[in-house]
Amino acid sequence: MEEKRAVTMDKLVNLCKSRGIIFPGSEIYGGMGNTWDYGPVGVEIKNNVKRCWWKRFVQESDNSFGIDAAILMNPTVWDASGHTASFSDPKMDCKECKTRHRADTLIENHSKGAVNPDTMTNEEMEAYIFEHKVACPKCGKSNFTNIRTFNLMFQTSRGVTEGDKDTIYIRPETAQGEFVNFLSVQRTTRAKVPFGIGQIGKAFRNEITPGNFIFRTIEFEQMEHQWFCKEGTDGEYYEFYKQKAHEFLLDLGLNENHLRFKDHEKLAHYARAACDIQYLFPMGWSELNGIHNRTDFDLKRHQEYSGKSMLYNDPFTNEKYIPFVIEYSIGADRLMLALLSEAYDEEQLDGGDTRVVMHFHPAIAAYKVAILPLQKNLGEKARELYRKLSKQFMCTYDEAGSIGKRYRRQDEIGTPYCVTIDFDTLEDNTVTIRDRDTMSQIRMNADEVAAFIQQKINF
Ligand code: GAP
Repeated sequence: MEEKRAVTMDKLVNLCKSRGIIFPGSEIYGGMGNTWDYGPVGVEIKNNVKRCWWKRFVQESDNSFGIDAAILMNPTVWDASGHTASFSDPKMDCKECKTRHRADTLIENHSKGAVNPDTMTNEEMEAYIFEHKVACPKCGKSNFTNIRTFNLMFQTSRGVTEGDKDTIYIRPETAQGEFVNFLSVQRTTRAKVPFGIGQIGKAFRNEITPGNFIFRTIEFEQMEHQWFCKEGTDGEYYEFYKQKAHEFLLDLGLNENHLRFKDHEKLAHYARAACDIQYLFPMGWSELNGIHNRTDFDLKRHQEYSGKSMLYNDPFTNEKYIPFVIEYSIGADRLMLALLSEAYDEEQLDGGDTRVVMHFHPAIAAYKVAILPLQKNLGEKARELYRKLSKQFMCTYDEAGSIGKRYRRQDEIGTPYCVTIDFDTLEDNTVTIRDRDTMSQIRMNADEVAAFIQQKINF
C-alpha cells in the first residue's frame, strides 16, 4: 500500500519562508532565480548537518583528513579534470516559447521514467523527442531545436587592467581540490595508502533546469570524500562506502523505505562502478548522493597536465603506483531538502486542532531547547537558565503568547525540548521538560537539564 505523507513541496517552501529556515534569494529585488538564503533557523540546521557529516567522515574515520581548498583554481585544473571539454548538458530550445530544456529531462518526464536517457547518445535523444512529439513543458507545443551542448561552468575574468584578462572558472565541484592536494596531504600527514581526504564547500553550476526548491540550484554546497586506495582493493572500498553513505542517512533519521540504490547504467569511460542513493523527495525519487569508483583517472590526469608525479611510494613494499579513488559526494542543500521532507508531519490533536511538527534528529535541530517562562514575571529566572544552557548549545527564548502557541512555534521548527519555568521553579529549582515528539512532560531539577539534553543530541 502506498504510504501517505503529509509533506508537499509547497508546504515545505511556505514553512521554511515563514519560520526563518530558507528565504528566496534577493527577495526584495524580486528574487534571483534558484538562489536561496538560509535564515536564522536554517543556518543552524545546515551547520549541524555539515558537522554530523564531518564527524562521521573525517573525525571518526580512520586515516581521513580534512581540507578547505580555494574555489578559484588554476584553469588548467579544469582541462585536466575534463570539465572544460565536456561538463555539459544536452539542451534544446523550444522554438515556440523560447524556453530552454534538458533533452534527458524531457525524455524522462515524457516516458514517466520508463526510458532511461542516460544510456542514449545525443542523436538518439533527439530522435526520441522528435518521433514521440514530446511537448514543451511550458507551452505544450512540440517544436524543438536540435541538441546543443552547454558548458555548466560559470566563467569570470582574472586581471587588473583591460586586456589583461584570463578566463577562470568558479568551481563546479569541490573534488578537484582534494585531487590536487593529494601529495601535500599525504606528505604532511605522513598518511599511508589507503587514506581519505574530505571537504565541505560551495560549488556553482549554470544549470539549465534548476528547480524543486533547494534540490537543484546554481550555487550549492557539497560534502565530498575521496578515498585513495591501491588497485585491487577498490571494489571492496566501493562497497564499504556505499554502505557507510547509506548508514549515515539512516542515522540522520531518513526512513529506509524512502532510500534506494541506483546503479549507473552508462559509466564514464574511466569509471569501474558508480551508483546513486536516491531519496523519495516530494516530487519523486531523485539522486541524493553518488558513490563512484573513479580508478586512477583523476590523479593520472593531474600528473599529465601539471607535470608533477602523483606516484605513491609504498614504504612497506617499495612499490610505486598511482592510487585509485573511491569518491563519495553529497550536496548539503539536497540533504537538507531530504531531511526537511522526512521531518515534516501534520498531526491531528484532541479537540480538532492540527499541529505541524518537524521531527528532526535532535543533533540537527536548530535549537536544542526553548526556554519558556510561564509568565513574564518569571523572566529573570528563565533568562538565567537560558544564559547557562546557551554556553553549551543553541537555545531559544520565548515569552510571547499562550504556552500552547509557544509549543506550536517550537514544533514547527523542530525544537526537540521545551523547558517551562513556573512558580514552583522559584521554590525548588525544578522545571518541566516537554518532549516534541511525544508531547509528554517530566519534571526535573534545572541543574540537570544540560546533561539531559546533551546526551540526547549526540550523533
Ligand atoms: N565530484 C562529483 C560530483 O560533483 P555530482 O553527481 O555532479 O558529482 C554530487 O554531484 C552531489 O552534489 C549530488 O549527488 C547532489 O547531492 C549535489 N548536487 C549536484 N548538483 C547540484 C545542484 N545543482 N544543486 C544542488 N545540489 C547539487
